[in-house]
Amino acid sequence: MLKTRLSKLLGIEFPIFSAPMGPDIAGPDLAAAVSGAGGLGLMQAQLSPPADFREQIQRVRRATDKPFGVNFILALPHEENLAVCLEEHVPVISFFWGDATPYVERVHAAGSKVFLQVGSVEAAQRAAAGGVDVIIA
Ligand SMILES: Cc1cc2nc3c(=O)[nH]c(=O)nc-3n(C[C@H](O)[C@H](O)[C@H](O)COP(=O)(O)O)c2cc1C
Repeated sequence: MLKTRLSKLLGIEFPIFSAPMGPDIAGPDLAAAVSGAGGLGLMQAQLSPPADFREQIQRVRRATDKPFGVNFILALPHEENLAVCLEEHVPVISFFWGDATPYVERVHAAGSKVFLQVGSVEAAQRAAAGGVDVIIA
């Protein structure tokens, strides 16, 4: 157990995430293994049709009752699978390659946290001002 602001925010034992690697590297089994071990597993969400994707989320949940997340590359189509995540109340929604701030309200309304991976100070400042919970710099 390593108590930090991050581990307390997420309810995890260790402030360690697995990188969400698309298109099909970081799937439900890897995410469940990382979360089950006390970190935060992040599953990629790029290629699966919504019905398969919902089944992947449920597969993580069958393997562990710990928090986990799903990652979306905003430059790719993401609305359908994002809607599935919000319906399923996935604990963490992580975004990359775009502005996450238009999604913050919807994700928070589902009870989930918003992560954004950024590559510039400007993007980090916009994310912080827009209510993103965790910025990965
Ligand atoms: C093969 C590969 C695929 C990746 N796919 C994604 C992705 O789908 N979404 C994302 O946010 N980051 C993706 N990344 C970036 C990783 O999340 C991470 O930011 C990057 O590997 C840097 O972390 P590291 O220094 O620990 O490797 C990918 C990285 C690799 C190597």
